[in-house]
Amino acid sequence: MEAIASDLDQLDVIGPDTYADNGYPHPAWKRLRQESPIHWFDLPDGVGFWAVTKRADIVWISKQPTRFLNGPRLAVFEGGEPVEGERRFVRHLLNMDLPEHASYRNGASSWFTPRAIGRRKPEVERITRDLLAKMAGDGEEREADFVSDLTAPVTISVLADMLGVPRDDWQLLFRWTNQIAGSSDPEFQGSGDDTVENTRNEMFQYFLRLVEKRRAEPRDDMVSVLANAQVDGQPMPPLELLSYYLLLVVAGNETTRNAASGGLLALIENPGELEKLRANPRLVDTAVEEIVRWTTPVIQFCRTPVEDVEIRGRKIRAGDALCLFYPSANRDEEVFEDGDVFRVDRRPNPHVGFGIGEHFCLGASLARLELRVIFAELAHRLDSVELAGPYERMRSSFLGGVKRMPIRYRLKPT
Ligand code: HEM
Repeated sequence: MEAIASDLDQLDVIGPDTYADNGYPHPAWKRLRQESPIHWFDLPDGVGFWAVTKRADIVWISKQPTRFLNGPRLAVFEGGEPVEGERRFVRHLLNMDLPEHASYRNGASSWFTPRAIGRRKPEVERITRDLLAKMAGDGEEREADFVSDLTAPVTISVLADMLGVPRDDWQLLFRWTNQIAGSSDPEFQGSGDDTVENTRNEMFQYFLRLVEKRRAEPRDDMVSVLANAQVDGQPMPPLELLSYYLLLVVAGNETTRNAASGGLLALIENPGELEKLRANPRLVDTAVEEIVRWTTPVIQFCRTPVEDVEIRGRKIRAGDALCLFYPSANRDEEVFEDGDVFRVDRRPNPHVGFGIGEHFCLGASLARLELRVIFAELAHRLDSVELAGPYERMRSSFLGGVKRMPIRYRLKPT
């Protein structure tokens, strides 16, 4: 790597405390976009990374999957968490590269097409309406935690239902996903036996038992489909199969949950936009895209170049970490007019919240469906809503999480 020292080096875009205390470092990203869109940061453990902050560069890199690999590094973690050795423990789409990646992606892709997901709409509506009915009571003013009472149970239930996990075990999925995705947050880190490795093992053991059952008696669910799938004419090896379930559970829960929680927060903070959506529920589609752009729940993924490359005059060496900051791309002033303004009717909205290229989010149609259902219901039924206490963020510079969001509201009973 070759870099030029400047006060930009002092910006903190990777420390998890920054994210927990202040939220996304948008002012820092803005400076980087304007002054040094490909910027090298040293990390205390001696390794560093290039911060890639412009949308065009993220797209350019993501669209060259054989030149910029996923495998060597999933993401950048301050303090050098053991991501390099990670592939010994989990092998899934996000840390695979072509041609293997394409073969594995085919294993699940037919379940995630817009058409296949469209068929799940009645179930997503039923799950959401049941939860809202519990929250609504008789239509009087109430308080609740929007995360634990609505967004977390909606996303976990939809996914568990799709996977074919028995209802009694849904709570387990919720605990595992919190512990894995929130591994840099002390609240979820746990102690003693509750390490990420233990959680992962517990989850793997659980799915191994379920795989045996579904191999013996396949059902119309995703555990069965993957358990009985062939990759290049062979059944998936156990590590790859179990990692697939882990990826779906973690990627499918944390992200959509946080988009939904952050989306309501944006509507509370921008009451005019909530009014617009209430007055015109057909805006729900553009509102959902704006919510994904605004919240951008996945903060970063990494790519590693296989050869030396020059981008915007910076000489990047083969093997360097290129950290793609999606929330920064989603406010890039070259692409988004008034990107710092939340607008439910923004159009066009070419955000990269779901990534782009070979690894484009497999669950994007599902996430969109869940968000449309949640916000269509809220637009229709919310009489009033405000924060009823502090909003708490997760300590992570990888996934932007909302741990708690107390709200005071009045919902029309059905
Ligand atoms: C608002 C919600 C979501 C957001 C913001 C989101 C974001 C992302 C992003 C940024 C990527 C990486 C793209 C890249 O590297 O180019 C990704 C990949 C992925 N997502 Fe999502 N996601 C969401 C919901 C979901 C859901 C509901 C599921 C599944 C049930 C899911 C499953 C996956 C999988 C399996 C991948 C890996 C794809 C691959 O490597 O080929 N995601 N997602």
